[in-house]
Amino acid sequence: MRFENKVALVTGGGGGFGAEIVRRFAAEGASVIVADMNSELGEKVAEEIGDAARFSQCDVRSSDDVAAAVTLAESAFGGLDIIVNNAGIVHPKQNVADMDEATYQKVMDVNLKSVFLFSRYGVPAIARRGGGSIVNVASTASLKPRAGNVIYGVSKAAVVAFTKGLAVELAERNIRVNSILPVASKTQILLDFVGPDADEQIERIASMIPLKRLGTPGDMASAVTFLASEEASFLTGVAMPVDGGWTAG
Ligand SMILES: NC(=O)c1ccc[n+]([C@@H]2O[C@H](COP(=O)([O-])OP(=O)(O)OC[C@H]3O[C@@H](n4cnc5c(N)ncnc54)[C@H](O)[C@@H]3O)[C@@H](O)[C@H]2O)c1
Repeated sequence: MRFENKVALVTGGGGGFGAEIVRRFAAEGASVIVADMNSELGEKVAEEIGDAARFSQCDVRSSDDVAAAVTLAESAFGGLDIIVNNAGIVHPKQNVADMDEATYQKVMDVNLKSVFLFSRYGVPAIARRGGGSIVNVASTASLKPRAGNVIYGVSKAAVVAFTKGLAVELAERNIRVNSILPVASKTQILLDFVGPDADEQIERIASMIPLKRLGTPGDMASAVTFLASEEASFLTGVAMPVDGGWTAG
């Protein structure tokens, strides 16, 4: 049990990757805050886990909601050791020159400002435990920009840069900060992006990945829990592709 007596907070914990990350932490002994804007999804995952989980209604763009999620970890479970900044959105496949400012801002706020807010409000709580770990869910899009997907990739590249900078800044407080870069995986966010002829496009994407399949929530949960665990105690500032070789060649 790698996470006995640990408390983890997972944003987007009601969705594809997030729900599996929550399950994995709980299975390995952690208490978990499921922080999600979607109460139906988030409450369902928290109920599935039982006493070791609490749902926190949280829009990751809101400093009040973020502070409340951190406070809930401390009041319900006595502290906070691990934050997984997993909540994220895509924009419709759209060229930069056609994108309105509101869409740009929303992507940046959900994908990037959220990481700032959870650092601002979450780091003091982790520091009160004497240290811990933050794992940010970025994307291979941060390394390989695609037409129609530029602003999403930019938001995730900024998350990678944020991760590295924060890792350096927090090392002296015994807080490790790492990121994973998932490749396309069949969750709601991918279906939102590829649109109507999803199956055909998904097959095409899978054929371009060296290991010839998409990622899964289980792949991402394995990488996140590894980075959050003591097994990774000398890893900080890492940007780990979880991509079947997609960014290797
Ligand atoms: N699935 C992929 O192909 C893929 C690839 C690379 C990176 N990612 C990244 O992985 C992360 C998880 O994505 P997923 O595939 O599980 O997507 P998903 O759409 O299945 O889940 C996203 C979750 O985030 C929540 N969420 C969205 N906006 C929120 C907000 N403002 N506040 C709080 N919660 C919010 C949703 O309610 C949902 O539960 C995202 O950051 C995404 O960018 C996904």
